[in-house]
Order: sequence, then structure tokens, then C-alpha cells
Amino acid sequence: MTYELPPLPYAYDALEPYYDEPTVRLHHDKHHAGYVAGLNKAEEQLAAARAAGDYALIKHWERELAFHGSGHILHTLFWENMTPQGGGQPSGELATQIAQDFGSFDAFKAQFTAAANAVEGSGWCLLGWAPAFGKLIILQIEKHQDLSVWGVMPLLIVDVWEHAYYLKYQNRRADWLSNWWNIVNWADVARRFAGARK
Ligand SMILES: [Fe+2]
Repeated sequence: MTYELPPLPYAYDALEPYYDEPTVRLHHDKHHAGYVAGLNKAEEQLAAARAAGDYALIKHWERELAFHGSGHILHTLFWENMTPQGGGQPSGELATQIAQDFGSFDAFKAQFTAAANAVEGSGWCLLGWAPAFGKLIILQIEKHQDLSVWGVMPLLIVDVWEHAYYLKYQNRRADWLSNWWNIVNWADVARRFAGARK
């Protein structure tokens, strides 16, 4: 599949004077577009590696996938999170959840602003829903390329920390992995997949 740069949901100058047209144009048309191109390139190279059975550059292309994939997802979210009719405060269930998890909207806003200000180097600040905790959390994203693609719902995981296999397999991680495929619960994976697609 080929990814495409989504058009802005408003005109380039729609966020003036808060967000200036030249910056929006450059940010969307060059920076965001670069992530989309990089994501397509990574997907293309991974497909070629699968076809050839040659995984010599797997670390490089997985990293490229994470960097450009996350860049594409986070920029799309960023654009959709803004509107010329923005500002004010949330209402309804979101307002209730924010008050429950942060004490008040003002306390949430203060924590989010402080966290965003304190991000080291290039990065992001994110409000997210953590299903495992059943609460909203604020996360600093310092390097979105660190081998994750934001927003992905986990379906299947294998632990490759040494503690997961060393007692039996010592340094033979490949043996652990080839045996692990025999104990995968595909029914559980399928159930999670169905839930994620809802
Ligand atoms: Fe950006």
C-alpha cells in the first residue's frame, strides 16, 4: 500500500495569526510530505527484503519505518487537532475524565504546558488514553523514531530480553524464537485484532 500526504483540513492561512501561513505551508508540504515519502520507501524496501529473503539491512529499515511512520501519524494528528474555531475548554465525557485524572482542567493545562516546555530537543507532548491504566496520561515524546509507531495497538509480542530465555537458551535467541512460534496463541491475537478493528 502507498501512503499519501493528507490535505490540510483547512486553508494554509486559516490558523493566522496564531500559526502563520508560511510555517504551516513549509511544515505540511515539505516536512510532513517527507515523512510520507520516507514511510513509502521503508515499506518498499521491507517488501523487497521479504521477497529476496535478505534481512541484512533489517535494523535500518525497521528504524526508518518507525521514524517516518510515527512522523506521518503524529503530524496527521497535529493538523487535525487544530481548527480556526479552536480554544476554550472541552466538555462532556472528556472534561469529566480530565477533571478525574488531573484534578481540574487548569491543572491538566499546567502539567501539559510544563511537560511540553521541558521536552528535550525536538519532540512532542501528547495527551493519550492508556487502556491498560484506564486513564488519560500526558507523555513527552523526545524521539518519536525510537522503534515505535505511535497509535499502533499491540496484537502479538515476544520478549527478547535475556531474562526471557537465558536460563534455557543462553545466548541462542534464534532458538528461543524458533521455538516460540510453536506456542503462539493465534486465537488471542485474532480476538485482539477484531477488537482493534472496531
Ligand atoms: Fe513537525
